[in-house]
Amino acid sequence: MSIEKPEYRKKEEAAEVSEGVLYASLLSTRRRRGERLMSDKYAVVGNPIDHTKSPLIHLSFAKETGQNIDYAAIEAPIGGFSEVVDKFRREGGLGLNITAPFKLDAFAYCTDLKERARLAGAVNAMKFEVDRVTGENFDGVGLTNDITRNLGRLMKGRRVALLGAGGAARGVVLPFLEQGPTELVIVNRTVTKAEELGRQFKQYGPIAAIGYSALADKKLGRFDLVVNATSASLRGELPPISPEVFGDDCLAYELLYGKGLTPFLRLARNAGVKRLADGVGMLVEQAAEAFVWWRGLRPDTGTTIKKLTVPLE
Ligand code: ATR
Repeated sequence: MSIEKPEYRKKEEAAEVSEGVLYASLLSTRRRRGERLMSDKYAVVGNPIDHTKSPLIHLSFAKETGQNIDYAAIEAPIGGFSEVVDKFRREGGLGLNITAPFKLDAFAYCTDLKERARLAGAVNAMKFEVDRVTGENFDGVGLTNDITRNLGRLMKGRRVALLGAGGAARGVVLPFLEQGPTELVIVNRTVTKAEELGRQFKQYGPIAAIGYSALADKKLGRFDLVVNATSASLRGELPPISPEVFGDDCLAYELLYGKGLTPFLRLARNAGVKRLADGVGMLVEQAAEAFVWWRGLRPDTGTTIKKLTVPLE
């Protein structure tokens, strides 16, 4: 059997074709080796960044939805956030997730801000389009999605206590109020910071701001949802709350994730609270929101949450 050889009109054309064949065979070799080609570039920026789960989460979303993306973890030096983002954009990067301590730097860097980011005063996701940089904040919606969809708890008509008034708490105030609780009580050690948040968000729903001694006052009653958005658990500390804040059928939610039973969750469990959760669901849900924003496709979050869950024991 004879195989017909193609006739090339010009030498250049023959060179072009053989170059194409070479490129195609290089592609298929690299594909066989599992290498991604010309993937759309995304990353998470923070400091430190070595324990981030974001690449694992986004790459599993990409695999599931058939998207060809590259997702890296970048440690930016403190004070060097803008330079790192400039470089990432020059290299064709399309979007970034932002983690501590750069959410305010990201806020300052953006040319456009979505309402949630503007009200939170912090950005946890960025999208790059030519000379525009849009900032979003999916932390709060990630948390409410986890509470309402994954944990099956309605916040409408319920009493909610939010412990803390720092960056983490600020991002969840508006999404909480949007769920229609009867009352959102912000509790903070430094009462003035809670009051400031209360003032800023009072037009969005029923909000109160108090200190821990006022929380201990029995007249305040018990809560259906208590969220620990303080940084106390990072140091193994417990915000000064009494077990009596937890109502019957209360959900106790710790924003920190992957640390098992924190002092806050232990207190809740010892108080008889049956539903305990840490922030792993919030982490995966906020990532899913960013993925939808960047790629236009909604990934399934259940498998990834399961994969990352550390038992609360
Ligand atoms: P983040 O961005 O994690 O919220 P932050 O902005 O430094 O970090 O805020 C930390 C929050 O945890 C604050 O609300 C802080 O209370 P103060 O504003 O009074 O400092 C709260 N916090 C930290 N350690 C705490 C503890 N041991 N008990 C109660 N609240 C604590």
